[in-house]
Amino acid sequence: MKVISVVGARPQFVKLAPIAHAAAAAGVEHEIVHTGQHYDPMLSDVFFDDLGIPAPGVHLGVGSGSHGVQTGAILGALDAVFEEHAPDWVLVYGDTNSTLAAALSAVKLHLPVAHLEAGLRSFNRRMPEEHNRVLTDHAADLLLAPTDVAARHLADEGLAERTVVVGDVMTDVLMQVRDARAGQPVALIDELGLQPGGYSVATIHRAENTDDPERLRMIVESLAAIDHPVVLLAHPRVIARAQQHGIHLDAGSLVSHAPLAYPDLVGAVLSSRGVVTDSGGLQKEAFLLRVPCTTVRTETEWVETVELGWNVLANSGDEIRHAVARPAPEATDATPYGDGRAAERVIEELVRRSR
Ligand code: UD1
Repeated sequence: MKVISVVGARPQFVKLAPIAHAAAAAGVEHEIVHTGQHYDPMLSDVFFDDLGIPAPGVHLGVGSGSHGVQTGAILGALDAVFEEHAPDWVLVYGDTNSTLAAALSAVKLHLPVAHLEAGLRSFNRRMPEEHNRVLTDHAADLLLAPTDVAARHLADEGLAERTVVVGDVMTDVLMQVRDARAGQPVALIDELGLQPGGYSVATIHRAENTDDPERLRMIVESLAAIDHPVVLLAHPRVIARAQQHGIHLDAGSLVSHAPLAYPDLVGAVLSSRGVVTDSGGLQKEAFLLRVPCTTVRTETEWVETVELGWNVLANSGDEIRHAVARPAPEATDATPYGDGRAAERVIEELVRRSR
């Protein structure tokens, strides 16, 4: 049995790691295609190195562009790759332009497509990620849902028969990296002279938060006014937009820093007092590490983090400041994201259904 994984952006490399390991353990032939959507070493190469992911067999090198140009370039380039490799399954991950392009290319070539992280919904039709995941779910043959809530969304859209709940593969990686990091020094703390437990970690990159200068200014100003250091791990998009709009990312308590490699990020979050983010993955990682999270968005796909009290949505300067200052939530041993063995289940499902 042969599986092709198509990945292109940072969170997909994290999800790919446990899948690559589970495929190798099961003796499944697994080819990795990197679309090149993310090309900066700190957004791409370090994830392959640190998480022990085999080098991609195919690199499309598409780079940046408008949504149409980027999605179209990947779609056009994949036809030849899929025809050459003739996989039993094309596995696509999450909600990026690489996900949608790969699903479309495969479905048009009549190749079976499995969508990992199926069924997540923000119900915000203005988000590019929402278009990508809804369209990918409806194109795919097998929907690998991380949670029961995600499976219910798929059922509501008439997709129950194609759905199986496998758990969340990011939880697989996070648990392994967390255990390996426990007790290790945190380079960021030494580098920036921070106090353990005395700083927050922030990431902001979504189009909804970066493209409108007023919104970006509001977010930056509220983080700068927090009463303890806030380290902004700045994605290229936020740096570019801030420069364009004359917004300073180093102001007041706000300190900008390059993105971190995954084990360093986990270490930095573990020792922090809180996370402020608009990332999907980081909200869930904060919850799994039991660090309070403030999410700068009007909705979240990971509703369990909010229901359990570990995540708060905040959309104005006051809301952000109040959310960051809130007392620590009540302890919980809930495991809505599975047991850390989701990737094994994914590979089992693909093998079982390819016979
Ligand atoms: C993409 C995903 C998003 C995911 C995020 C994780 C889509 C629509 N969005 O957003 O769901 O949460 O990745 O990071 O697929 N850039 C660089 N170097 C790079 C990559 C990008 O400088 O290695 C710059 C480019 O100028 C580009 C901008 O960042 O215009 C945004 O990159 P893009 O791939 O369009 O989307 P992300 O914002 O990274």
